[in-house]
Amino acid sequence: RTVAAARRIDWPSQRHLLAPRRRTAHKGDSGHVLVIGGAPGLAGAARLAGEAALRAGAGLVTIATHPAHASWLNIGRPELMCRGVETPVDLAPLIERADVIALGPGLGQDAWGEALWRAALNAERPLVVDADALNRLARAPRRSDHWILTPHPGEAARLLGLSTAAVQLDRIAAARTLQERFGGVAILKGAGSVIVGPSHRPPAICSDGNPGLASGGTGDALTGVVAALLAQGLELEEAAEVGVCLHAAAGDAAAREGERGLLASDLIAALRGTLRSVEA
Ligand code: APR
Ligand code: MG
Repeated sequence: RTVAAARRIDWPSQRHLLAPRRRTAHKGDSGHVLVIGGAPGLAGAARLAGEAALRAGAGLVTIATHPAHASWLNIGRPELMCRGVETPVDLAPLIERADVIALGPGLGQDAWGEALWRAALNAERPLVVDADALNRLARAPRRSDHWILTPHPGEAARLLGLSTAAVQLDRIAAARTLQERFGGVAILKGAGSVIVGPSHRPPAICSDGNPGLASGGTGDALTGVVAALLAQGLELEEAAEVGVCLHAAAGDAAAREGERGLLASDLIAALRGTLRSVEA
């Protein structure tokens, strides 16, 4: 196997891919993200993905979630639209209005999530696939050219039928194999996130971010960020690379107030200030 040099990427080298907004911009220009997730007990994951999508510049964000909590999921963040969905029939009109789907945060392992997962796979929209959606993909492998997969090392191990230790031993090879086997773009998360897409460019590595990000919800935030960049018109591979760098830079900005105790919400709050450099 030939070992191609990896490309080092960071936010300062990637942000030119985002342009300042036109003076005449309207929300339709920035796209509509649909987050699908939030089984009972896991609503927070969907909420975090939705908030991150808003703070990464999506024009509109709708969360399709379990009816048990749809009526209160946007408390304190009324800009989020939340719709309770029981079945794929309820989901169809939401997919119709969406430009991009973020699938998986808090989707859960039961029949409710299974039905929505199938419906989303049949939607003709770019997908960001995370968390329990990745666990479903591991059980029923398939390929697509229209998705970005965002596994952490444990999820990557399940997708590849390897141990987590084996994934970590050669993260670039693991990300490559994920891309070859499942198509689209693979983001292998963790310290030094690796991105591999269908282009013949060498794998990209972003070494930014910090151990403060090792807390529940920061992965859901990445899913929302990447989906928002797709909604704003970036190509699949660009959205993955820019998204990983933006998320890491926001995490580093938040960590200036301390790594320990850093919450996903702190990272999400730092996205706007990080994005300001695009307008300068
Ligand atoms: N350095 C840099 N970045 C880090 C570090 C680190 N030491 N630790 C974590 N991160 C980043 C990752 O790159 C990724 O973007 O934080 C994010 C963590 O994402 P997930 O692992 O998906 O975490 P999250 O989903 O928020 O947490 C709950 O635990 O058992 C799992 O599957 C379950 O997805 C669920 C997760
Ligand atoms: Mg996760």
